[in-house]
Amino acid sequence: MACSPRPLFLLLVVAFLLLLSGAEAQQQWTEAEQLEFLRRHWSRPVAPQGRPPARFTPLEVSLLPESCGTCHPAQLADWKESLHAKSMGPGVKGQLVEMLGSDPESALACYTCHAPLSEQQEKISGRKGGFVPNPVFDAKLQARGLACAACHVRGHQRFGPPTRDGLLLSELPRERLPHNGVVRTPAFLGAEFCKDCHQFPPDGFALNGKLLENTYEEWKAGPFGRSGVHCQECHMPDRRHLWRGIHDAEMVRSGLTLAFSTDKQRYAPGDTVMATLTITNSKVGHYFPTYVTPRVVVSGELVDRSGRMLAGSRREKVIAREVTLDLSRELFDTRLAPGETLTFQYRRRLTGAGLTLRIAVTVYPDHFYAGFFESLLASGAGKGTAQIRAALRTARSSSFTVFVQEIPLT
Ligand code: HEC
Ligand code: HEC
Ligand code: HEC
Ligand code: HEC
Ligand code: HEC
Repeated sequence: MACSPRPLFLLLVVAFLLLLSGAEAQQQWTEAEQLEFLRRHWSRPVAPQGRPPARFTPLEVSLLPESCGTCHPAQLADWKESLHAKSMGPGVKGQLVEMLGSDPESALACYTCHAPLSEQQEKISGRKGGFVPNPVFDAKLQARGLACAACHVRGHQRFGPPTRDGLLLSELPRERLPHNGVVRTPAFLGAEFCKDCHQFPPDGFALNGKLLENTYEEWKAGPFGRSGVHCQECHMPDRRHLWRGIHDAEMVRSGLTLAFSTDKQRYAPGDTVMATLTITNSKVGHYFPTYVTPRVVVSGELVDRSGRMLAGSRREKVIAREVTLDLSRELFDTRLAPGETLTFQYRRRLTGAGLTLRIAVTVYPDHFYAGFFESLLASGAGKGTAQIRAALRTARSSSFTVFVQEIPLT
């Protein structure tokens, strides 16, 4: 009598129910459902959040990143350092002040990527055509650029990735969590999440038959896309919110493999030096670089004992997709596709003693913008002048060296 079948049966029922709830937690999102989610999530402008749930405190209602940061300090600290936080910087704002008056349609088009929430846009399409002031506009939120809420909040509901254990449900029921918890979807983990702003549509603006922004397609066709290493794995490692790219020396180095050699150990005056630097795009998930705005210069030059460059000794190769400032033409495209290698050879007869060869790779992340802001100021930036000047200073001073080697030759 010690072992009645009833408790065993109950146990089985409980186990079965647990399994079911587990199955709910693991409810699958098919690929089609994820794409449909992203289509709605990224329809622009993001619809106004509307009335918040009655139980929300002012802190939970607020869309400002610093409000989110009260409870999510790690993400706030990272995001603040990122370029996403600077997407409404002076280079953008300085152009928009004039454009909002003269051509509001184009100005609003910029917001689709730079400040996509309705609450960030001072004008909206009027019912009778034209543009009217936006009643929910929040200038402070606009200044925050690509804010947390742009990626995570719709209709005051939070959306986010599955937990790190891959679960879709939280430990506590949603109604007992701040901001009613979160809807979790694997759509946050895929490259498609980034695509809306980092890839032009197939009929988007192109030069020389190539879209001006093609990052997602470059990724998809390359080895990382084919093996399922998504943008987040390189740009949000360990879920960090830094999005480092061409403006960060460590990040650029992480994507490249460099090898340097000379044909001899020592040279005498009169000898010819032959040095070779190869640069392989080994771990950039797309073209190096992906956009038309940066310029990478590979250079070799001879310097004398006092560190002065020998006149006429400098040789350069440029890695870039260079376009004219008015975007009417592509001048050349020497970017490195994933896996591709550039070989830079430096060959020169040594005319004297005490010479050093200096080989360097220098990145100008804002090369295009420096020229563009200059020409904008020359033609008149109107009310945006002070901001464009500030943006020009930043663009001119953002260069850095990712590789430099000095080899005493004689
Ligand atoms: C009052 C504190 C509080 C505020 C303010 C807050 N959150 Fe949260 N948030 C939480 C807590 C607690 C969780 C964990 C919920 C869970 O376990 O499911 C969470 C979960 C999340 C998640 C899911 C990821 C995870 O860690 O599991 C996202 C995304 C998120 N919040 C975004 C935001 C954004 C964006 C804002 C600002 C617009 C914000 N939160 C404001 C407390 C807060
Ligand atoms: C709503 C649009 C939007 C989305 C979504 C978006 N980005 Fe961005 N991203 C931008 C804009 C705009 C900038 C440029 C900001 C600036 O400098 O003004 C940027 C900049 C970047 C940079 C820095 C580039 C540099 O020059 O160094 C990286 C890296 C990046 N994004 C990666 C991502 C990844 C990865 C995702 C997906 C997880 C993503 N972005 C999603 C709009 C977006
Ligand atoms: C499809 C998304 C998208 C749209 C639309 C867009 N941008 Fe950008 N913008 C980006 C990305 C991504 C970057 C960073 C990469 C780069 O430098 O090209 C960027 C960079 C910039 C920069 C340089 C960084 C900075 O903050 O100073 C300026 C200036 C800029 N955009 C202005 C504009 C203006 C003005 C418009 C509207 C006419 C516009 N953008 C429309 C995605 C977009
Ligand atoms: C450009 C879009 C974007 C912006 C802006 C953004 N996030 Fe995220 N966030 C993501 C993505 C994508 C993930 C999932 C990343 C992954 O799994 O690699 C994520 C993950 C998270 C998580 C879960 C982290 C974890 O460890 O599980 C939290 C919490 C979060 N974000 C909060 C914030 C807060 C707070 C801000 C603003 C300070 C913010 N996010 C800004 C796209 C964004
Ligand atoms: C295997 C790692 C890896 C993957 C995957 C990856 N990237 Fe990058 N990305 C890099 C590295 C390294 C750089 C810095 C070198 C450079 O700028 O090309 C970079 C630079 C960038 C930049 C700076 C702008 C520029 O002109 O280069 C943007 C924007 C960017 N990535 C977006 C994305 C997006 C969007 C995806 C997904 C579709 C993605 N990346 C996938 C490694 C990766």
